[in-house]
Amino acid sequence: MERDEALALLRRYVTSPSHVVHSHATAAIMRKVAEHLGEDAPTWEVIGLLHDIDYDIVGGDMERHGIEGYRLLLENGVPQEIADIVRRHNHLLTSGYDRPVEIALQAADSASGLILACALVKGGAIDEVTPRTVKKKFKEKSFAAGCDRERIRLIESLMDMETFYRLAIEGLTEVRGDIGLA
Ligand SMILES: [Fe+2]
Repeated sequence: MERDEALALLRRYVTSPSHVVHSHATAAIMRKVAEHLGEDAPTWEVIGLLHDIDYDIVGGDMERHGIEGYRLLLENGVPQEIADIVRRHNHLLTSGYDRPVEIALQAADSASGLILACALVKGGAIDEVTPRTVKKKFKEKSFAAGCDRERIRLIESLMDMETFYRLAIEGLTEVRGDIGLA
């Protein structure tokens, strides 16, 4: 599946601007992590774009999150493998992620919000965010409190946190125009 097709699907089903931004940010991190690991970067990026496709449909009902996304993606001809990963990414319903793509999605999903928040306190200047900034804010539990630190830490089975933060910042920098950063 191509990025453009995934983007069209995202725009069709997700209307909240902040969630479109979240999807772009998660996708950009997924792509950088995949490149670093020598994995399938275009597919990981598509997974990032589509992972919360049911956001509007479930309307906050986390018991349905992922399940509705799975159904919707299959209806739209998205490959089964991608739909399965989207279904399983709801950590409230699934546990035990062993595949690199699923681990990366957990970390990217949570870290995207944390790093975006780091940029926003610097007036949206992503260039001023460093791995050190993120490391410091990671420890401050009240900062971007909704970003689950434990889900970010899963990435440690694949790389050290500093490398992950560097990749994630690079990813967000590359899509700065799509996510409203300077
Ligand atoms: Fe998400």
